[in-house]
Amino acid sequence: MAETVKGSSTAAFSHHEISDSEFQHLRELIYREAGINLTSQKKFLAQTRLGKLMRRKQISGFDELFSRIREDSSGLALEMVIDAISTNHTFFFREDAHFSLMNEELIPELLNQSKPRKKSIKIWSAGCSSGEEPFTAIITFLEAQKQKKIPPDTHLEVIGTDISNEILEKAKSGLYPLETIENLDYKLKKNYFQRGKGRFEKFVRLKPHVLEHVTFKRHNLLFPLTEHGAFDLIFCRNVMIYFDQQTKQKVVDNLTNSMHKDSYLIIGHSESLNNISHKLITHRPTIFKVKQGV
Ligand SMILES: C[S@@+](CC[C@H](N)C(=O)[O-])C[C@H]1O[C@@H](n2cnc3c(N)ncnc32)[C@H](O)[C@@H]1O
Repeated sequence: MAETVKGSSTAAFSHHEISDSEFQHLRELIYREAGINLTSQKKFLAQTRLGKLMRRKQISGFDELFSRIREDSSGLALEMVIDAISTNHTFFFREDAHFSLMNEELIPELLNQSKPRKKSIKIWSAGCSSGEEPFTAIITFLEAQKQKKIPPDTHLEVIGTDISNEILEKAKSGLYPLETIENLDYKLKKNYFQRGKGRFEKFVRLKPHVLEHVTFKRHNLLFPLTEHGAFDLIFCRNVMIYFDQQTKQKVVDNLTNSMHKDSYLIIGHSESLNNISHKLITHRPTIFKVKQGV
């Protein structure tokens, strides 16, 4: 599936060319505020995306954009820039082996760890983008319940967080273009999505019995998430690829602070925790568990 490029028409924005010093300023700002490591290969991409933003907001150039950020105590101008810079590529059932394992092994194990049996599972999708990851977790959990792999009285609660407000608005709507689910099994489409009508004819929306399991909120992974207690499972997939070692360390510390002794952390297939210090052991490649006795 193609990545949604924010601002792909470059010719229209050529007057917003970013100078080396402006790019350096932008890099420092984005690194400090979001931990995102904008390498020099991203200069053109940043110019294109911010060019589009500046045109939309009638901002004359990078000088004005930066002074708006400095003068705006609400933080909204900065959020707008982070929204434009962050890469939100995601899709339903991405790296789907994680979801099979979650329902067939990890959740049953978590439920049976205590006596009487645990009755609820709490999942954090950290860097959830437009919501496909938390919704896939919910859909596959409900399917596993139907197939009696998970007891019917197990309650599921999912929190999806992201730094980008704009993308979270999409997630909250639960509304997706029809083509985003075209490869899904017919039964999944029928049971979990409803087709839009009228001007939403080319869209689908998650059904209420899926939406009711999830809450979306803005959260910056450079900070700990303190108000939700510990999670049984944390997905933080394809987020740390944008961070350098120092930021990754901070993010992993924050994620592990939200884990209890039996929790799992799941990262993307192309990611690793190499050279990061943590209290985890590898359960399976890309799946980590708290080292017992720590
Ligand atoms: C490529 S998407 C990954 C979505 C999903 N986890 C997946 O694997 O398909 C990366 C997401 O991380 C978010 N992100 C980047 N920096 C972040 C930060 N400091 N705190 C929280 N989210 C961040 C971006 O806004 C983006 O939506």
